[in-house]
Amino acid sequence: MRTLPPPSNIPPEIQEAWDRAGARLGLFARGLRCFSTVSSTNDLAMRFADLGADEGTVVLADAQTAGRGRRGREWFSPIGSGIYVSVVLRPSGESKQFPHWIASRLTVAAGVALAEGVRASTGLPVELKWPNDLVVGRRKLGGILTELSTTGADRPAVVVGIGVNSGLTVYTSTLVPVATSLEAELGRPIDRAPVLVETLAALAVRYEELRSTRFDAILTAWRAFAPSLRGAAIEWESPEGVVRGHAIDLDTDGALLAQAGDVVTRLVAGEVRWR
Ligand code: BTN
Repeated sequence: MRTLPPPSNIPPEIQEAWDRAGARLGLFARGLRCFSTVSSTNDLAMRFADLGADEGTVVLADAQTAGRGRRGREWFSPIGSGIYVSVVLRPSGESKQFPHWIASRLTVAAGVALAEGVRASTGLPVELKWPNDLVVGRRKLGGILTELSTTGADRPAVVVGIGVNSGLTVYTSTLVPVATSLEAELGRPIDRAPVLVETLAALAVRYEELRSTRFDAILTAWRAFAPSLRGAAIEWESPEGVVRGHAIDLDTDGALLAQAGDVVTRLVAGEVRWR
């Protein structure tokens, strides 16, 4: 088995914000582990989970050499330019479908928490784009990658990875038109500590809501962060090719309902593009 990288010291500004937040961090309060450079915080959190790490373990890195997004995409993760964090959760449930059922809900809950955390710490009017993008206008500021592990512990672990572009950076030519960062939007340097802490404090609350079967409250909050969702012109992939239509709403599971002509389609995964 590959060895785990040694944790680094917790940066003082993170420690200070962490201490100030105290009990607001809920299940994350005692779980922080910081690293300078890792392959992917999701990979590392998954390895911790497989070794039996407690629910609430937080893996934070300054940089990732193999950061990834949904659909196998690279997540550009240079040092000083982003918040790269993953948390280990161990929700309990009986059915065979439960891990997948909860993972998709967790993605929705984490999106809400990220939007809440960024708004609370910076005041930026961020919005959510289904299923997991944090955006300003049409530019992407952050995203969520939820992954499941079923080995090594009595309760399956879910790793929720959160990435936020925080610093001004030189994006590759494909990212220039579609990405933005906190510093680019705010026009000033930002401290990642309050963004991290407010996001995790919000995630602790939303996770608790999910555990007490109040997913409807999470969906209501999600909709409030996506004011232009209803009626938005979108296109999506189907087995028959690209379909053009418009978004209707989220359903009670967090899937996207989309309409093309008279046909309403329930989208659970895949990519939706705004037209
Ligand atoms: C997406 O929008 O496609 C999801 C991006 C998720 C990126 C974060 S950064 C921290 C964690 N580690 C990873 O390798 N990915 C997630």
